[in-house]
Amino acid sequence: MSDDTSALHDSPGARVAARVERRWAMLSFLILALFVVVAAFAGIHQATMPQARVETISPARLHLGGEFVETNLGSAVEPDGSVTVRAIGQQYSFTPQCMIVPADTPITFRAASPDVIHGFLIEGTNVNTMLVPGYVSVIAARFDSPGEHLMPCHEFCGVGHEGMWAKVKVIDKAEFLKMADLKPRLSCVE
Ligand code: CUA
Repeated sequence: MSDDTSALHDSPGARVAARVERRWAMLSFLILALFVVVAAFAGIHQATMPQARVETISPARLHLGGEFVETNLGSAVEPDGSVTVRAIGQQYSFTPQCMIVPADTPITFRAASPDVIHGFLIEGTNVNTMLVPGYVSVIAARFDSPGEHLMPCHEFCGVGHEGMWAKVKVIDKAEFLKMADLKPRLSCVE
């Protein structure tokens, strides 16, 4: 180094610059360390404690017994006044093909697939999930007003994928409850 440059390095301005750079370097190391801690915590936490709400179900035995037998599919009023809709998506249809729900009521969709992955999406709402064989998909919804929503399968599931869809019919709450008094499981399949 020539005398000129060492004079420059010793100048007060250079010392300030070096100090500021060291601080920034320290800050970025701290941020990196924080990310490592967060990633390690999330990984270890997920590995040792799987999400509490994951429900598994045997895809091969879906139709044979339990929650997803055909007679249990459709909409049911719960003791707390909410409504549970149980459905199956399989190549290439949903059962029930037309689901009926009351407006202005907490709705829980519970759905499963016996074969491959299907999409479960209700147009005009933020209900959007997948039916993965082996698991029960649970998603909450609330519909403000009566109407009809299309429910196309949005995961490619085979040659009949485009023809796989259902609909959700939202009706007046009082009307729904009247129907539910007469029948424990409701659908709008004609
Ligand atoms: Cu089922 Cu695409």
